[in-house]
Amino acid sequence: MTRTDVEPLFVPLSVRGLALPNRIVMAPMTRNFSPRGVPGDDVAAYYRRRAEGGCGLLITEGVGIDHPAALGDAGLGESHLPHLFGADALAGWKRVVDGVHAAGGKVIPQLWHQGVMREPGTGPFPDVPTLRPSGLWGPAGRTTSLGADYVERVIAPTRAMTESEIQDVIDAYAHSARHARDVGFDGIAVHGAHGYLIDTFLWDETNRRVDAWGGDRRARSRFAAEVVRSIRREVGDAMPIFFRFSQWKQQDFKARLANTPQELEDVLGPIADAGVDVFDGSVRYFDRAEFDGSPLNLSGWARKITGKLAMAIGGIGLDRGFYDSRRDGRAGGADNIELLMARFNRGEFDLVAVGRALLNEPAWTRLLRHGHELPAFDEAKLQVLH
Ligand SMILES: Cc1cc2nc3c(=O)[nH]c(=O)nc-3n(C[C@H](O)[C@H](O)[C@H](O)COP(=O)(O)O)c2cc1C
Repeated sequence: MTRTDVEPLFVPLSVRGLALPNRIVMAPMTRNFSPRGVPGDDVAAYYRRRAEGGCGLLITEGVGIDHPAALGDAGLGESHLPHLFGADALAGWKRVVDGVHAAGGKVIPQLWHQGVMREPGTGPFPDVPTLRPSGLWGPAGRTTSLGADYVERVIAPTRAMTESEIQDVIDAYAHSARHARDVGFDGIAVHGAHGYLIDTFLWDETNRRVDAWGGDRRARSRFAAEVVRSIRREVGDAMPIFFRFSQWKQQDFKARLANTPQELEDVLGPIADAGVDVFDGSVRYFDRAEFDGSPLNLSGWARKITGKLAMAIGGIGLDRGFYDSRRDGRAGGADNIELLMARFNRGEFDLVAVGRALLNEPAWTRLLRHGHELPAFDEAKLQVLH
């Protein structure tokens, strides 16, 4: 690809009060380098390097919201996951934000509640119960990369969330959004995907509620919509809200929230109406059609259905998706940028999220812009903050 071919990705875009210099976004990636929930100077330097490398917007790793059951071990071993409450963590995030801004970038936190995935007895508040919409972790025996020992420990049904527990979590999202605004973040990203709390309200296998929080697709979207509405109330009209969703769950890679565009409209409509600006449909390969009869990917459909902005994700600049490369051991650099540009130029999505390629190479955005070869993913980079 030459410089001219990718130039459309370097056309600025404003989303509410957020002026982005280009369309490249760093995807949220858990790094687990924040002891006691506090991001340190190493984390701030890590984000700042991506802004210096030309990336227009950084979405942070998942950050635990201001709720005691938000974080714990989630089948991934001992955690040093950051959170968004308390003087130390907020001071740490302010250093992250200031560093990114000094480098000319923008940054928004990904608000995260692990919900059913949190292993009871772990995390900063080990004594609080893990929250599950209907007491279900998910069905046993589906395709997952989670360890059998973890699944065995969490698979037994527990009690369903109470009405007041649901309201507490919604309020906690609002508190965290206020903290984010106070430390200078430029918007809010909501993690509504991958089988965590919000997603388990959306998924019929984990939401069997017969009250106003369960039922058909639109009813199951009510919790997500109320979370978005509470964040919007807190942050006002100027800050954009991004919403990540996915068909797949860590509990079941083959799960689907929607089998048709109409079903997807039922899922996303209430969430869009609540105040989302950008939908981020999490898939492993950006260039796969979501439904028969159209080449549109999941985010492309979200854009078409809701009229909101959309962000593509999945294997951009790499030849293997996230889980495929973990299984096969390697993701090579790939020139799939031509395929990406064809879709972008047709107006399928407005922003392009890049995960592992940006984790691997902080200056990836600049390499892309200047037509340099895009490097392969080095798995060793997962172990360090560089
Ligand atoms: C190390 C790592 C950590 C991740 N953590 C998160 C996370 O905290 N929240 C999230 O929504 N997605 C997370 N993801 C998924 C990425 O955001 C992205 O969707 C995925 O890596 C596919 O994009 P890629 O092919 O460009 O890497 C993570 C991915 C990686 C590689």
